[in-house]
Amino acid sequence: MTFRKNTIITIDGPSGAGKSTIAKLLASAAGYTYIDSGAIYRGIAYAYKIRKDGESLEELLHNLPLGFEFGENTRVSLSGKDISEEIRKPDVSLLASSLSQQVPVREYANAVQRELAAGRDSVLEGRDTGSVVFPDADIKFYLDARPDERANRRYTELASKGQGQQFDTVRQEMEKRDAN
Ligand code: DC
Repeated sequence: MTFRKNTIITIDGPSGAGKSTIAKLLASAAGYTYIDSGAIYRGIAYAYKIRKDGESLEELLHNLPLGFEFGENTRVSLSGKDISEEIRKPDVSLLASSLSQQVPVREYANAVQRELAAGRDSVLEGRDTGSVVFPDADIKFYLDARPDERANRRYTELASKGQGQQFDTVRQEMEKRDAN
């Protein structure tokens, strides 16, 4: 009997560099599962935003009922309720960015990524998928672009979702997230 190990491809880099676009194209061309790690951080942030009064981050992460469906676009649910639109809103973006500095959050998100990719040929996209989450990935990419180009991509993306913000605000928030 032969055992075939699943293949892991990672695409790391900052926001707005085009990671999602490339990851989706690559996953679709290869017939792999596309895993958007940012959606995990965003799901945690949304759950934290609506958490019960007085609930700590550790309590929230313990048995957090987040669900993920990784098709062409990642669907995220919380206790069975679809929160895919909510997690893309600017306030959740900022919260995800600040919470992502917390070690328990990173550990939780890393464990979810490893669980989701277990036994599946996957393309994972994020800031640290190749460097931290899957250091032994089969193929690793690092994608970057000039800050203006990244801010422009993000600005256009938000505008297309009706969440338009001033270009300068988008750029400043991007710089803040990079620093985080
Ligand atoms: O890629 P994104 O904008 O959807 O990610 C949302 C936030 O989650 C981002 O501001 C930083 C955090 N994040 C992270 O710290 N590590 C990852 N691998 C993915 C996202």
